[in-house]
Order: sequence, then structure tokens, then C-alpha cells
Amino acid sequence: MTGLFTPFSLRKVTFRNRIAVSPMSQYRSRDGFANDWHKVHLGRFAMGGAGLVYAEATAVEADGRRTAGDLGIWDDAHIANLRSITAFLSHEGAVPGIQLGHAGRKASERRPWHGETPIDEEDVTTRNERPWISIAPSPIPYADGWPVPRQMSGQDIERVISAFGDAARRSREAGFQIIEVYAAHGFLVHQFLSPISNRRTDRWGGNAQNRRRFAVEIAQAIRANWPEDYPLAFRLSATDWLDGGIEIEDTIETARALKQAGVDMIDCSSGGVGGKERPRRMTLEQGFQSPFAKRIRREADIATMAVGFLWDPNFCNDLVAHEKADMIALAREILDDPNWPLHAAAKLGVDKDHAMWPTEAGWWLMKRQRLVEKLGLR
Ligand SMILES: Cc1cc2nc3c(=O)[nH]c(=O)nc-3n(C[C@H](O)[C@H](O)[C@H](O)COP(=O)(O)O)c2cc1C
Repeated sequence: MTGLFTPFSLRKVTFRNRIAVSPMSQYRSRDGFANDWHKVHLGRFAMGGAGLVYAEATAVEADGRRTAGDLGIWDDAHIANLRSITAFLSHEGAVPGIQLGHAGRKASERRPWHGETPIDEEDVTTRNERPWISIAPSPIPYADGWPVPRQMSGQDIERVISAFGDAARRSREAGFQIIEVYAAHGFLVHQFLSPISNRRTDRWGGNAQNRRRFAVEIAQAIRANWPEDYPLAFRLSATDWLDGGIEIEDTIETARALKQAGVDMIDCSSGGVGGKERPRRMTLEQGFQSPFAKRIRREADIATMAVGFLWDPNFCNDLVAHEKADMIALAREILDDPNWPLHAAAKLGVDKDHAMWPTEAGWWLMKRQRLVEKLGLR
């Protein structure tokens, strides 16, 4: 039966299992450059057995960074450091992926542990991080206390779309094998998709098809610069959890349109668009977003990834086995245990002798286990 440890292919790229490391911003870059921190942070997940390791939200233009510490890929100079990371991930058997994004009206923000509020004086004095002007489909602030973003002109829109295309070319040169576009959590592409943040009346807004156009054209721009053999994914907020916002039915339509534009997988998250209304209550339980992955998979006939509040190997295995999702993504759980895939394999009985581990560790662990069993110590 298909399960968490059954390999999976999209186009000509094969993942050794169904476990992805969800993109996790580290806020540790300077001028967008990756460094040793990123290599070690991502590298340990490859050593821990993940099938797909996504680098964090990576800005396609400098002003599209969320914080001053975001990773970037707006310049060819960024490629070399990223390439050293992808070489390591590939060598350890993981598929290296990158999440490309633009923060839009959520740009110029403080790091989560500094409050996730707009950059202020303290950032300037303590870290020399200065605020910048953000852009958005409509001049509506993200939330109370946020600056009014500059409404994007048609030229701005075209520029950002081609920045995604250029970033795809750089991602290829950097050795990534899958791209995920960050179209969720209230960042720029989501801002276009959602009627909460997009009040335009030109060809980029006014109805669902027009609101979708930005995402679709980004997919096309990436496809033009991205190998035919490599997959392209989108992370969507399946619902805004807000009256008047995106609902799952809209997202199914979006997934269909993206599939037409060459997208291979939808990573199914939710929420984050902001605004004045309080989001509807959601039941926070293990896999609370996985019903979205199941519906999108079935109704848009596209591969899906389930994410959010996942931790139990049996639960995750069932998602794949019962065709609710093709892959699962872990963020906080794999931060807690970078060897989660290897531990899950043991728990599910598919790796009895530490054979999946890198030999440098697995050989010792296998020896110890045999000894401990022989002596009846554990
Ligand atoms: C440290 C951290 C950084 C994150 N950064 C990103 C990001 O760059 N892009 C993104 O799409 N989601 C980001 N997220 C959200 C996660 O990818 C994931 O969707 C969310 O944490 C739910 O999964 P979990 O319950 O396994 O943590 C981040 C989460 C964490 C914990």
C-alpha cells in the first residue's frame, strides 16, 4: 500500500519519500545572501531523511522581502551560496526546493520575535535596518497600525511577474529542482487572489478570474525559464477564514487554472490575509488543513501537499495511504526533531536496522541496538 515512504515523482523529479520540510524563514540573511546558517539548518533535514527540503521564502526583488533578514534571489550574485546548499541536499538524497515570494504590503516588517509589526526606530538604531515602501494590488494596509502600501501600476505588475521568471532561471542555476510560489499567508500573490486585499477594477481585479491572473502569469513566467522536467508548486491559502474572502471553492478554481499554466502541486495552507475582521474560528487539531488537500486533489485533479499541525507518523502515513494528499510538509515538528523522517520510518516498521540513516550514524546505531537487545537493556 502506498504510504509515507513510497517514492513519489512529479515530472522527472523523484522524491525518496512523501515528507517535505515546509519553508521556514530564518531571518538570518544579509542583503538576501544565504550563509552557513542556512546550509546547516537545511542540511540537517536532508541528513534526517526528508524527501524534499524547501528553502524559506526567498524574495524575487529586494523590496519584496518581508524583513531585512529574508533570503533573496533578485541578483545573480545570490546564486553561488545557494548552489553550495543544493549540492549538499542533493548529495544527501533530498530534492532541493525553493519557495519564491514577494511580501507586497507585508514588506518592511519586524521579525516574529520583535512583534511582526512594521519596522520602527528600534530596528534602525539597534540593527541599522531601515523601513521601505511596500507595494500591493490596492492601497489598503495589512492591519491597523500598518502603512498604506503603494498601489501597483500595470508596469509594477509586469516587473514583478518577470522578477519571478528571472528568479526561476537563477533557481535553476543554483541547483534547485522544484519551485514553490508563495501565494498564501497574505503575501503579494495572495493579496491579488483575495477580494479582501484586491479591490482593483482593471484586468487584475474585479472578479475571481482577474484576481487569479497575477498568479497564473507568474506560473507562466516561471515555466518559460524552468526546465520542463522539473515540477512547479504553489502554496495557497485555501480559505481566508473571513466572510467575503477566499473560500475553498475559489481555491479549487485557482488550482485548476494553475494546473493549466504548468503547475504540478498545490501546497494547501490557509489564512493570513489580514484586514479588520477577525478570522472565523477554526478547530485547531492535528491535520486541520488536510481536508483542503483532499478536496483540491480530488476536484482539481492535481497533486497536493498537506501542511499544518502534523506530527504523528501514523496520521501522516494515513493521509498518503488514503489519498488525501500526495505529500506532507512539516515545519515546527521537524524543527523539534530534524530526524523525524528516520524516526517515523522506524515507527512505521519500514527501517528496522537504521539502514535509511547516513551510514556514519546508522552503522553505530544499528550496532548499539543489537547489543542493547542482546543484553535486554532497553
Ligand atoms: C520558523 C518558521 C518559519 C516559517 N516561514 C515560512 C515561510 O518562509 N514560508 C511559508 O510558506 N511558511 C512559513 N512558515 C509556516 C510553515 O511553513 C508551516 O506552514 C506552518 O508552520 C504550519 O506547519 P507546522 O504546524 O508543521 O509548523 C514558517 C513557520 C515557522 C515555524
